[in-house]
Amino acid sequence: SAANQALSIADLAVIARRRLPPGVYGYVSGGSEDQSSLRANRDAFDGWRFQTHPLVDVSRRELGVTLFGTRYAAPLGISPMGVTAICGFDGDVAMARAAREANLPFVLSAASTTPLERVAEAYPGMWYQAYVPARTEVIGPLLDRVAGAGIGVLVVTADVPIASARENELRNGFSLPLRLSTKLVWGGLTHPRWMAETFARTLLRQGVPHFENFTAQRGGPIIAAARGDHRAGRAALSWKEIAWIRERWAGKLVVKGVLRAADAQLAQSIGVDGIFISNHGGRQLDGAVASLDALPAIAAAAPGLTLLLDGGVRRGTDIIKAVSLGAHAAFVGRPAMYGLAAGGQAGVAHALALLRRELDVDLALLGCPDVARLGPAYLCRAHRPVP
Ligand code: FNR
Repeated sequence: SAANQALSIADLAVIARRRLPPGVYGYVSGGSEDQSSLRANRDAFDGWRFQTHPLVDVSRRELGVTLFGTRYAAPLGISPMGVTAICGFDGDVAMARAAREANLPFVLSAASTTPLERVAEAYPGMWYQAYVPARTEVIGPLLDRVAGAGIGVLVVTADVPIASARENELRNGFSLPLRLSTKLVWGGLTHPRWMAETFARTLLRQGVPHFENFTAQRGGPIIAAARGDHRAGRAALSWKEIAWIRERWAGKLVVKGVLRAADAQLAQSIGVDGIFISNHGGRQLDGAVASLDALPAIAAAAPGLTLLLDGGVRRGTDIIKAVSLGAHAAFVGRPAMYGLAAGGQAGVAHALALLRRELDVDLALLGCPDVARLGPAYLCRAHRPVP
């Protein structure tokens, strides 16, 4: 397929852009307001250069890492993304299967449209990301449902108290739940392959996709004029509820959307096992610090906390930089979605394989035979001209 011709994540993005209606591509690729955090995530990686260690035996490379007691093939995973079904048929299961086959972690989004139990069947070791309101009577049954599906790692997203302003979505006539705007319909008509392979199949074979995984109950259809009330109470969410969840949830607990050392320490003091250092891929507060820029201070302040980083990871070298600065693993959002749009499950697998291969090659070129040995000795600040 075309996806397999892609030599890089950037190539996959080009294919995805061609295949998807502008509104859908905009939803995936875009950020909020001026998109400055989206750019900053990428720029932060460019702010570091490698110090190679020549004449080190790199004939055998160890890429594997252990996260929450599970051994994975590489310090790489798929971050949670909502409504993958609009980018590829059965998107949640396709992503889960691709991650499982690559032996990498996958986080199912609360805003997914496949019942979490079905995705957990496809990948029993998957993680689940929750959006929770500040109402323990709602959180409790959700935790029971997630535990009942055999899920061992719960990720609670903390950076979406309310929806952000995504102007590109408004300009493209895109909204969730999907509203059949003129622009969206036109986008569909001019992308017949997407209509036939993704949209129509999703509707015909799976019925109207639902927000399935917000609560213990089933959610509302995503194609609807009315918004469900799944967001009710999220703005009031606080560390108090995280502490409550910690008491009640026996598995591993991760908070997603931490950017400050003090918050990492607070999470650790509550008994949280890990955090996602993340600005939601530049999709929430525009101007939020780039995740890679936030990493070093957090790594220094919270030893022992499992640090997962996402935002702008597009190359094996990005993974190496994140791990060298103290992350236990780097995660990708959009690259997996571009893979899905370009080639379904095989496209996601290709995205993961590209990153894994780059990681392997780049480790050798760097002169580091084991990701566990990565550290500040491999990096220096890029020289930036004085403006
Ligand atoms: C997201 N992200 C996200 N995060 C989350 O906690 N729950 C969610 O439902 C979603 N949904 C979502 C949809 C789409 C289309 C994107 C692109 C992102 C954020 C995601 O988990 C992750 O933090 C970023 O995507 C990482 O940045 P990159 O790799 O996309 O640059």
